[in-house]
Formats: sequence, C-alpha cells, structure tokens
Amino acid sequence: MAEFSLPKNSRVMPGKTVSAANGAKRKRTFRVYRYDPDNGDNPRVDSYEIDLDKCGPMVLDAIIYIKNEVDPTLAFRRSCREGICGSCAMNIDGTNTLACTKATESIKGDVKIYPLPHMPVHKDLVPDLKHFYAQYASVKPWLQAESPPPPDRERLQSKEDREKLDGLYECILCACCSTSCPSYWWNGDRYLGPAALLQAYRWLVDSRDEATGERLDELEDPFKLYRCHTIMNCARTCPKGLNPAEAIANIKKMMVTRTL
Ligand code: SF4
Ligand code: SF4
Ligand code: FES
Repeated sequence: MAEFSLPKNSRVMPGKTVSAANGAKRKRTFRVYRYDPDNGDNPRVDSYEIDLDKCGPMVLDAIIYIKNEVDPTLAFRRSCREGICGSCAMNIDGTNTLACTKATESIKGDVKIYPLPHMPVHKDLVPDLKHFYAQYASVKPWLQAESPPPPDRERLQSKEDREKLDGLYECILCACCSTSCPSYWWNGDRYLGPAALLQAYRWLVDSRDEATGERLDELEDPFKLYRCHTIMNCARTCPKGLNPAEAIANIKKMMVTRTL
C-alpha cells in the first residue's frame, strides 16, 4: 500500500511568544508565519502581542511596528501603504489581501498572517513572484500597433472605447487573485492565472492595439487560458474589487466569435 508522508521541513512548528509591555490597554495577538531558508529550520508561527495604541489601524501598521520595535528579523514587502503598489499582499485571517488596507479592527480574535499561498517563499512573508511576473510579461502588456501615431498628438480613444478599460486598468498586480485560484495552484506552471489573463484582456479590448489576432493566437492553448473553471475565488479575493473571472470569460468569447 502506498504510504504518503510530508517532508519533515513542511511541518509548521510553534514559534516564540512575545508579550506586550506592562500597562498595554488594547492588546491584540498577531500570529505571523516565519521561515528562513538559510538556517534549515522548519517554518514556525511566532506570536506577538501588540498594544494597538502604539501603532496605526491597519494590519501593515502592526507589522511595521513589530519590525521596528519588537523583532527586526521579520521580512515582508511594502511600499505605498495606500493600496496602490500591490507589494504588501499576504494572507490575513485566511484571505489574500493587502495588509495596508486591511483594518485590524475588522478581524476577530488573533490576527493570523501568512505569505500568499502556494508560492515558494524567500523569507517569512516574502513570496517568490518571479514566475508570476514572467507570466505577466508573456502577455506583452504594452500597446502593439503597426500604424504610425498621429504626428502631433498621442493616439486618441473615444470615450466609449476608453470605458472598456474600466475594471481592468486598475489592477495593481498584487497576485492575490492568482494565488487564491485552485487551478493556478495545481497548474501554475502552464496556466497563466487570473491576474495575467485580466491583463491580457486589458490589451485585447484596447481600441488602439492592432495585435488582437496574435494575442488570441498566443492564448489558444489548453493550459494558458482554458484551465479556468470559473471557481470565482479570484473575484472574491481581489482587494481592488476587480473581476478577473469575467475578463477570462470575455477572452473565451472572443476566441469563439473569431472562429465562427
Ligand atoms: S486582479 Fe485584483 S487581485 Fe488580481 S492582481 Fe489585479 S488587483 Fe490583484
Ligand atoms: S474563476 Fe478561473 S481564474 Fe478565477 S479562481 Fe476560478 S479558476 Fe481561477
Ligand atoms: S503597501 Fe502598497 S499596496 Fe500595500
């Protein structure tokens, strides 16, 4: 009989516990995933009790407080602190989201923080997004046009054509959607995933782009596009309120209409 066992270092161990200073009134425990590939230890979950009066209201504020005041070894990404750069994406309280726009008060009980799921981890809350970005680059996310632009101004769009980009251009490439997608978990090596496909659609519907045929040819593949099974995790988790599943369905429609 086949026997399955997980590799030893896949087990997440309990880590250290740090208590808040005496006199703290608004205490909250943050349970944070820690992993350092350099020391060969198993991943662990450290617990930090924080006085919420000492930091800002968002989960990212608490993480920055932990790094600055409690444990400088904690690694995470962040830049804008206002939901624009996408770099603070992580799994908080069981959902992929942006730490800088997630209010600590919106979470009941301990705040559990893990890196984006199903991605290799560089360290702690920092996932390796190399493959994700390579997939984004593969959809050629730039304007492709043979015809020359007008000599005296940029390429213009009608108001209606511009509106077709709404719900697409706002994507900040945080990877929350792709890393919540079961199809991407299992076939992420070949399935492009919701983020890259939403971006692909953004260029497919751009009235100024002249490479629609080539773009569709590139996506006509049993894995790149058709591994989406409309499970909808992507739309549920997107912190910008976008709907990658709809964009993917629209690409599939474009595929069908061009073959009719
Ligand atoms: S569609 Fe939403 S969840 Fe996906 S990468 Fe873009 S902003 Fe992030
Ligand atoms: S709708 Fe498609 S892309 Fe979105 S989570 Fe489901 S399978 Fe993934
Ligand atoms: S820090 Fe930029 S989106 Fe959170």
